[in-house]
Amino acid sequence: MENEEEDAAAETPFMMAHGAGFYGYAGRDLELGALFNEAMGADSRVTAGIVVRECGEVFAGLASLVDVGGGDGTMAKAIAKAFPHARCTVLELPQLVGTMPVGGMVEFVAGDMMEFIPPADVVLLKFVLHNWSDEDCVRILKRAKEAISTREPKGKVVIIDTVAGSASSKQAFEAQVFMDICMMMLTTGEVRDEEKWRGLFLHAGFSRHKISPTLGSRSLIELFP
Ligand SMILES: C[S@@+](CC[C@H](N)C(=O)[O-])C[C@H]1O[C@@H](n2cnc3c(N)ncnc32)[C@H](O)[C@@H]1O
Repeated sequence: MENEEEDAAAETPFMMAHGAGFYGYAGRDLELGALFNEAMGADSRVTAGIVVRECGEVFAGLASLVDVGGGDGTMAKAIAKAFPHARCTVLELPQLVGTMPVGGMVEFVAGDMMEFIPPADVVLLKFVLHNWSDEDCVRILKRAKEAISTREPKGKVVIIDTVAGSASSKQAFEAQVFMDICMMMLTTGEVRDEEKWRGLFLHAGFSRHKISPTLGSRSLIELFP
């Protein structure tokens, strides 16, 4: 995967400057990697509280969840605590899983979400898809669809991400614009509006989605097979 990133060395300003994609580079620069994971963990601590408190019904009755690109497991741990009957797994890059303690409330699995996502009732993608091009998003979403059950009770994909145009305040709008600029600099992704999200969902073979704009500058999207 790192080679793929390096082959596409001029796709983003970050690649131009560093000759590698953000995650390939962060895997080599351990200080940057640790700082980034800590920052994402801090973001997840705030978001997890709101998600569990205000969107708890989204996860009601689930027996298993896989948090894809789930970072240090902050979000998955909060869900495991709120829904103790659920088996929660984090799928992450080997460079991150190698630094995580073994045992505890959630299981860490090293892998590549482009290739395989472990089966679960709910596949969670928090702040992942905005990092990737349309083509890569469709690939990730297809892997997510393969991971959830299509038999009754059907599984679902839960996306926590930014939906452009959904901001309910000036501050939320500014946060969305800032996020879009960051994505342009660092990644091949972008902040998408509902029409663009819908296009990705249709291409990946999903039949229905529901957007709840309850998280300030972000939304929670439920995606059904
Ligand atoms: C923006 S961070 C989001 C982390 C976490 N979901 C959160 O919101 O706190 C994206 C995560 O995706 C992970 N990631 C990147 N490429 C991946 C891949 N191919 N397979 C699995 N995880 C990947 C990164 O290591 C990183 O932790």
